[in-house]
Amino acid sequence: MMKFVGDLGAAMSAPLILLGEELGLYRAMAEGGPMNSSDLAQRTGTHERCVREWLAGQAASGYVSYDDKSKTYYLTPEQAIVLAREDGPAYIPGAFQIMSAMMKDAHKIAEAFRTGTGVGWHEHHPSLYEGTEKFFKPNYEMYLVNSWLPSLDGVVDKLKKGALTADVGCGLGASTIIMAKAFPNSKFHGYDYHQMSLEKARDRARQAGVADRIEFRQATAKDFPNEQYDLIANFDCLHDMGDPAGAAKHARATLKPDGTWMIVEPFANDDTKDNLNPIGRIFYSASTMLCTPASMAQEVGTALGAQAGEARIRDVTKQGGFSKFRRATETPFNLIFEARP
Ligand SMILES: C[S@@+](CC[C@H](N)C(=O)[O-])C[C@H]1O[C@@H](n2cnc3c(N)ncnc32)[C@H](O)[C@@H]1O
Repeated sequence: MMKFVGDLGAAMSAPLILLGEELGLYRAMAEGGPMNSSDLAQRTGTHERCVREWLAGQAASGYVSYDDKSKTYYLTPEQAIVLAREDGPAYIPGAFQIMSAMMKDAHKIAEAFRTGTGVGWHEHHPSLYEGTEKFFKPNYEMYLVNSWLPSLDGVVDKLKKGALTADVGCGLGASTIIMAKAFPNSKFHGYDYHQMSLEKARDRARQAGVADRIEFRQATAKDFPNEQYDLIANFDCLHDMGDPAGAAKHARATLKPDGTWMIVEPFANDDTKDNLNPIGRIFYSASTMLCTPASMAQEVGTALGAQAGEARIRDVTKQGGFSKFRRATETPFNLIFEARP
């Protein structure tokens, strides 16, 4: 029961995190230092009585801090980095936007449990798409250029000189834009089957000043044009696809003979029992509501799930005709694989 007291508190406070972001409450606290509910309400143009209740709830969660002597609330630097710094390395509210889409779409998933027909990525509430971008982007900012690309054999040198890269299943293009900023001599093609995501990706590329280096095009992982790429990358999406082996075959066919396929997947061990931990809990839950039904809604419907693990991904690359495969690096949240022809 005490476990559910903790879990229920976390779940019930989830919408408060969305409010804190939407109304700028966290940002105002990070900028303004210790304050009471009247100060915060004034700074954010909100109603004091609502803010007072929100602050107490947030303090009970441990998301904001409370000083009983001065009766003021404040964010420690650690709380601010997680809740108030959208451009920082650990911004968390995007994850709660994903969760809100999971709640809103639960009736669709229940139907998919009954019918087995799946629910496509495009069939979800739109907060899923921006939430995914917001949640994944800090991770990509932190690791992609500094660690993941350098872990691949010879790829950074090619990108520096000028290479052609496809970012397949690019979503709102966070990873494509980060790579384009870092490697101005290279060209990038972002592919996704979801038109709404690509429109946002194009806006983001314009805002970032890299629209001259990126083309976002609507295509699936099995039909994007064969342009003989130096690098093909799949960020957190191979397991969402109906036919990952088909995607692997197409990656193999559209890569240069000395090219590299980088596959970024959620961290997972091969054996279910080894994933029964707090991180596996998050991934299995998202996978039940999002990834597995997304794959089941497409042709073949392999449904690898978000905890596929290295052995299953290795097998997918083998089926695609790749002869070399290795785990290039990892973080607590991701596995980074390199497949070569
Ligand atoms: C979890 S999101 C990841 C998006 C992006 N790579 C990122 O890391 O932010 C999965 C993406 O895969 C795309 N997708 C799913 N199946 C696809 C397919 N068969 N071909 C191309 N894109 C696909 C979805 O539209 C979605 O944008």
